[in-house]
Amino acid sequence: MNKPVADHLLRAAEPFAGYRDNQAARLDVEAEARAQEGGARVGISRPHESAALHVAGSAAYIDDLPELAGTLHCALGLAPVAAGRLLGIDLAAVRALPGVVRVLVAADLPGANDCGSIVHDDPILCDGEIRYLGQPVFAVVARTREQARRAAALTKKVLRVEAAAPVLTPQQAHEHGQYVVPPMHLVRSASGGDEAAVRAAIAAAPHRLQGSLDVGGQEQFYLEGQISYAVPREGGAMHVHCSTQHPSEMQHLVAHALGVPAHAVLVECRRMGGGFGGKESQSALFACVAAVAARLLQRPVKLRLDRDDDFLITGRRHCFWYEYEVGYDDEGRVLGAAVTMVSRAGHSADLSAPVMTRALCHFDNAYWLPEVAMHGYCGRTNTQSNTAFRGFGGPQGAIAIEYILDGIARRLERDPLDVRRANFYGPSPGRDSASPAGERNVTPYLQPVRDNVIHELVDQLEASSDYRARRAAAAAFNAGSPVLKRGLALTPVKFGISFNVKHFNQAGALVHVYTDGSILVNHGGTEMGQGLNTKVAQVVAHELGVGFERVRVTATDTSKVANTSATAASTGSDLNGKAAQDAARQIRERLAACAAARHGGRAEDVRFANDQVHANGKALDFAALVADAYVDRVQLWSDGFYATPGLSWDSARMQGNPFYYFAYGAACAEVLVDTLTGEWKLLRADVLHDVGRSLNPAVDIGQVEGAFIQGMGWLTMEELVWHPASGLLLTHAPSTYKIPTANDCPPVFNVRLFEGDNVMDSIHRSKAGGEPPLLLPFSVFFALRDAVAAMGGPQAEPPLSAPATSEAILRAITAVQRG
Ligand code: MTE
Ligand code: MOS
Repeated sequence: MNKPVADHLLRAAEPFAGYRDNQAARLDVEAEARAQEGGARVGISRPHESAALHVAGSAAYIDDLPELAGTLHCALGLAPVAAGRLLGIDLAAVRALPGVVRVLVAADLPGANDCGSIVHDDPILCDGEIRYLGQPVFAVVARTREQARRAAALTKKVLRVEAAAPVLTPQQAHEHGQYVVPPMHLVRSASGGDEAAVRAAIAAAPHRLQGSLDVGGQEQFYLEGQISYAVPREGGAMHVHCSTQHPSEMQHLVAHALGVPAHAVLVECRRMGGGFGGKESQSALFACVAAVAARLLQRPVKLRLDRDDDFLITGRRHCFWYEYEVGYDDEGRVLGAAVTMVSRAGHSADLSAPVMTRALCHFDNAYWLPEVAMHGYCGRTNTQSNTAFRGFGGPQGAIAIEYILDGIARRLERDPLDVRRANFYGPSPGRDSASPAGERNVTPYLQPVRDNVIHELVDQLEASSDYRARRAAAAAFNAGSPVLKRGLALTPVKFGISFNVKHFNQAGALVHVYTDGSILVNHGGTEMGQGLNTKVAQVVAHELGVGFERVRVTATDTSKVANTSATAASTGSDLNGKAAQDAARQIRERLAACAAARHGGRAEDVRFANDQVHANGKALDFAALVADAYVDRVQLWSDGFYATPGLSWDSARMQGNPFYYFAYGAACAEVLVDTLTGEWKLLRADVLHDVGRSLNPAVDIGQVEGAFIQGMGWLTMEELVWHPASGLLLTHAPSTYKIPTANDCPPVFNVRLFEGDNVMDSIHRSKAGGEPPLLLPFSVFFALRDAVAAMGGPQAEPPLSAPATSEAILRAITAVQRG
């Protein structure tokens, strides 16, 4: 765990301090104002739609909803051992406690005891087999939350268990050959051969590098914990307020647990206090337990987790362990690469398979790998079931190749940026989806890269960050500084946008225009702070040519838009923005026809801008036209739908075109390390990130900054520790698990958006920006490795693992000093 930064480090960092680029300087405020005057509502930096409510404390989260009369509270009793059998529960002892209304065990579930999202291997309550320490075994429903929690805390006294030895690490699971899904293999040989050809290419290369790497997991640490509030409705129906990224899946799993059809369950989510992937599948257990309790008792039931229980019950980012071997030439170009990735999946499949798929599809990052063999294993362990976390395996895949390239550069004594550049995918001629892909441009899964901007993006960042001069300055500093060492790194990002599963790439929306000209928008995406509702409202305002004040976005609700996909894979605004645009366009066309019928001229010539409608030389007020259209019996509401075109994926062969396009970025980071203590400080970070033609530059810059700091937390300070014998997650609260804070932001943090439209027909040519920037702080990790390398000889290759905590940094320093 990191200690507060020592004074002498802060003093040494002083030349960098005192400079804080303000957001306005990074945005082209004047250009935005001009665009807005011209009627544009996209490409404008609007504040988050709930910003005022957030800061005033009046944005309603589920626990803020007024409780209905008769509301009961639920808490979960957790397994006290990581593996073994549940022999019995002394329920009478729990029932006897004050306020306890009912105690539920697996046998009480009216429907299926399963809340698995893809594979049905996830029990809601323990069915006899204990899978991890923290697994929910029983649920207490009591009059108050405090009473429910006190009763649930009795587990050690009321549960009779037979403990077995747990399997905790990915390595152990791999040795036992125990996986939650079958192993995955992705092999591509440009010479047309198989894995043997890849191995031969490695063997024939002028140089070879072999090694292994450990990268830790990460807790989502959403500020609002998991919560569900279930309210029974007439005729066996259930209304669940759930903090979830995936209302439709919650609807289906609750229906399954209750044994009722989907139409009897309504799931609603106005907003989450953060999701970060942790509420994509893992909100299900709590929704199911609350709904079952509400159904059995015919009373509203709320289940809100305590933070420690949230840590102990739910999964997080998978930690990965890698073994690799590559062959390369004198320039550092990779000629062949073989990598085995083993993740800690936890006790069930959850989303481990798609996370591993994305990891394998991002091992290439921005690089052409002519011969590559990848193997992915999702190790079954007696730990929480790991799940989605911003980047969804992409970061875990890409960091491995970055580690390899960094190692190659150190071996060759070349600047790592030069080695990275030598391996970039070839430039895309014309960057037009119709033009040929060019050279060195096919991913290992055989999708051509047609929109490559990494060359110009990295060139721009190299210049704006003054990389070469600072590299020389750092070397000069290090030569004269035996204890404090500076390190620098510039790393690229390429990230594929779309769900790998083709049919998830669809979305629906519902737009109502009321007779007073106000507009209500509903869509299938969920708001978790990322600004999705703001962007969708902008798209609708733009389409109808009205001011933002007219448009309100409402809670995601399975009874309004059906069969939605999770708000995940950064596709929220791509999918729901297009669906809402489709709905708004239909209404606009009907209004245009109405205006033409009343005022003459052609409907196609009617223009909507700045709350005015221009028809046949007349300027009409938008609201007045709406009122007229109502009288003319025009349908003033519409649904909208969107399905991303051109996608394909063969999951057996791991080949196809899984991504609609790629998002790019790069970051340059400089650190200062105290090599006696392992403490360090991020001095400066420069970021250039590609969000295509931004829908909302302020929101996008916020996403980039947040993802950068969050990813830096993953790679440098957030450390998960399970007790090696008992399997208890020791780091289950903020007291023992350190996430980055405002103090960890570098004094110089230059974040800019790359100029350039999406070549694909995405919503207003924007690109998804939720997850890709999480890979930018690779630059911080490799800057740390660079600083540590300065403690060793010329070819020192520090064995630095992630998270690079002070302890890990000291271990790496010791290793390079031993040579
Ligand atoms: N930003 C905030 N503030 N809170 C979040 O929970 N989740 C991230 C990202 N940005 C998240 C966030 C994750 S994991 C994803 S997949 C995307 O937002 C989802 O939203 P989008 O598709 O609308 O970008
Ligand atoms: Mo994001 S990990 O796809 O919810």
